[in-house]
Amino acid sequence: MAVIEINHPLIQHKLTHLRNKDTDTKSFRENLTEISKLMTYEVTKNLVLEEIEVETPLMKTIGYTLGKNIAVVPILRAGIGMVDGLVSLIPNAKIGHIGVYRDEETLQPVYYYCKLPVDIDKKQVILVDPMLATGGSAIYAIDYLKNAGVKDIVFMCLVAAPEGIAKVLQTHPDVSIYTAKIDQGLDKNGYIYPGLGDCGDRIFGTK
Ligand code: PRP
Ligand code: URA
Repeated sequence: MAVIEINHPLIQHKLTHLRNKDTDTKSFRENLTEISKLMTYEVTKNLVLEEIEVETPLMKTIGYTLGKNIAVVPILRAGIGMVDGLVSLIPNAKIGHIGVYRDEETLQPVYYYCKLPVDIDKKQVILVDPMLATGGSAIYAIDYLKNAGVKDIVFMCLVAAPEGIAKVLQTHPDVSIYTAKIDQGLDKNGYIYPGLGDCGDRIFGTK
């Protein structure tokens, strides 16, 4: 499929606040929510619409509706920071959770939790995680969703490393990746640079 870098000035402005190491927890959360909301416009561009009839003050006409068949699935923990922005624009979306953390030594994904909406196999899934680094967590979550029968997945992240993008596209060529920025690469600890540090810790104030 495709890799789409959403180079909107508002998004790049807010991302710069997130990168700043002096940005506090409150401001970090607010900016992440706002970016997620702005990205939603682009990410939902190809959503399937249902035709409905609507009656204007003048006549009956054809209108469109969406929302019933959309699921937003954050990868825990940091993905939670993107959910409010998405559902503020898609209020009927169902929400699933996949808990995967990255082992600090091996950088391999470690599974610990999953709860998905019923009929997930019939839904269009927007999988969200702010950070795409080695790609291990995203690939694990996409594998999980496909094993649950999901056929239509897009992945939305904030910052992506070229290494992670390449791995996801190689493993799951049918999944489009939307990101606010493709960064330079990974450092020796598997962190994205310039990146913004540990996103989960910055959202939840755990370090
Ligand atoms: C971070 C991030 C991704 C993952 C990306 O989560 O939110 O899930 O690392 O790295 P990868 O592409 O190399 O897999 P982390 O493991 O720090 O867990 P957390 O969200 O609970 O802090
Ligand atoms: N996880 C993060 O939170 N940040 C990175 O740079 C890489 C993985």
